Amino acid sequence: MCGIVGYTGFQDAYDIVINGLRRLEYRGYDSAGIVLENAENKLEVEKTKGKVDDLVNISSQLKGVAKIGMGHTRWATHGVPSDRNSHPHLSNNGKIALVHNGIIENYDTIKTMLTEKGFTFKSETDTEVLVNLVQYFMDLNTEMDFPTAVRYALNEVYGAYAITVMHEDFLGVLVVGRLGSPLAIGIGDKEYFIASDASPFVEFTKEAIYLEEGHMATISLENGVDIRTISENSKIEPEIQELKLSLEQIEKGGYEHFMLKEIFEQPKSVHDTMRGRLIVDEGVIKMAGIWDHIEKFKNANRIIIIACGTSWHAGLIGEYLIEEYARIPVEVEYASEFRYRNPIITDKDVVIAISQSGETADTMAALKLAKERGAFIYGICNVVDSSIARITDAGSYTHAGPEIGVASTKAFTAQLTILSLIALKLGKHNGNLGNAEFMSLIAELDAIPRKIEDVLGTTHELVQNIAKDFVSATNFLYLGRGYNYPAALEGALKLKEISYIHAEGYPAAEMKHGPIALIDENMPIVIIAPKKGHYDKIVSNVQEIKARKGKIIAVVNKGDTQVSAMADYVIEIPETSECFSPIVASVPLQLLAYYIAVYRGANVDQPRNLAKSVTVE
Ligand code: F6R
Repeated sequence: MCGIVGYTGFQDAYDIVINGLRRLEYRGYDSAGIVLENAENKLEVEKTKGKVDDLVNISSQLKGVAKIGMGHTRWATHGVPSDRNSHPHLSNNGKIALVHNGIIENYDTIKTMLTEKGFTFKSETDTEVLVNLVQYFMDLNTEMDFPTAVRYALNEVYGAYAITVMHEDFLGVLVVGRLGSPLAIGIGDKEYFIASDASPFVEFTKEAIYLEEGHMATISLENGVDIRTISENSKIEPEIQELKLSLEQIEKGGYEHFMLKEIFEQPKSVHDTMRGRLIVDEGVIKMAGIWDHIEKFKNANRIIIIACGTSWHAGLIGEYLIEEYARIPVEVEYASEFRYRNPIITDKDVVIAISQSGETADTMAALKLAKERGAFIYGICNVVDSSIARITDAGSYTHAGPEIGVASTKAFTAQLTILSLIALKLGKHNGNLGNAEFMSLIAELDAIPRKIEDVLGTTHELVQNIAKDFVSATNFLYLGRGYNYPAALEGALKLKEISYIHAEGYPAAEMKHGPIALIDENMPIVIIAPKKGHYDKIVSNVQEIKARKGKIIAVVNKGDTQVSAMADYVIEIPETSECFSPIVASVPLQLLAYYIAVYRGANVDQPRNLAKSVTVE
């Protein structure tokens, strides 16, 4: 949440910052702002409620005025989205500007102290408190240099932050710091870039430093990048990494939205996630992260999966997979609940965190708690080198590529792929899965990318047409059983987050215990009914819906007759093992949500109130 961009070099800072903000807009789009240091060494600020386009509309005069500057795109935490609360924030003397991603938890105490010293505040933000704290330290000791004042200020705050700070008297210097929110520094030839992720500078350099937790850096053309610990000011040798990201990966590539592009990328992203791991000819699954710690898994009392949102839905399917094939007890918890309920965790537990971004604050905090209590912690992340990937004892990356649409699609199916591999690998290793069944399952898994391709080809237009009939719906129910119950939850989440239609997912049999009261001729019900997996029971559920005149949209296997005969709309998908069916069945549900949202005129890639990586609790 919130994106930060900074630049110092020989190019027009305005262009670099604005283009960078556009790439980071997925992180929040409540407001946007920019600050540049002009030729007279004065800070020039423009900021506004709204999107980067709104900022561009009011700031074109800043084009060409500077070679150093920074910007911010905001997801509101403290203070409503407004011009006043937009970043950058300036100190009272107008000399220091700061952009911030995160939350300063003790801002109120500091604000009271600063107010007593005569500071005044224009916004309701925690960030304005921090920038004034930097000024406070510089006022206290006029000999103090700017980076030291930033360090002093950061030592007074607790919470989460990635910040970039400029001071108009310290020409050409950008000071950055990080605790709990990501920050990357791109190293160009006579230029430096700062950003919440590497996407703003990918076309300019392939070399980057990912700032570590509790570190800060002073960046200038004159002295390069000087990294220090925030607590002790100890010097740190920078670790420069080569970026794997390409420009093509972060562009829309001819699709109208990132979400649609990402839905269509799934044959590849699922394949990439299995590549080098699933070797069908040899009958093996190679996963170093699991294999190197196989005894931990084998001897685990239980596996606890922690995650949020879509990743939590993947975790629920992981529970079914691991319990069925590896016969290890699994619990799935919302990270936000787990971290605050004093859970019983021992060194016999394995905790798996699932997170696309690898930055979700609740998941991160839950993992830290589990680690403190001795559990072995394993990460399933999409973003390489993300905070969660770094603190885990081991893990497996989903190789889905950058997911930019705020609603998760390809990351979800890649998470399911990893969880399938883990379950089958553990099941084979501990003898619960016989060779014949293992071989048949891995052959099935290997075929999933082709089945997704089939679904995209055969259902795309059909789903588009179905979506037209539900543009004015106000409620939706999604039902599934077994492995497809979490797939129903995920289908409902996709619809509600991008179309703003209220949608609920339920285990189909639970319908009788309450939701059935909602069903009438106006209620659309999406029912996932593949042949393998409680089909007869689902048939009964469909009959119950039919008797109450609900509008049935059925996702069935090709050639299905029974459910299809009762459904108002039929979406056919290829048959697969029940355990992999959510991967295939999710694809038409993603398309359905996408097209309903598009026809309602919603901003699919940037749904209201949401942001891609939730770095605040
Ligand atoms: C929904 C969605 C969110 C995320 C959740 C966790 O489409 O994307 O529900 O799944 O915020 O994010 P990660 O996986 O990055 O931890």
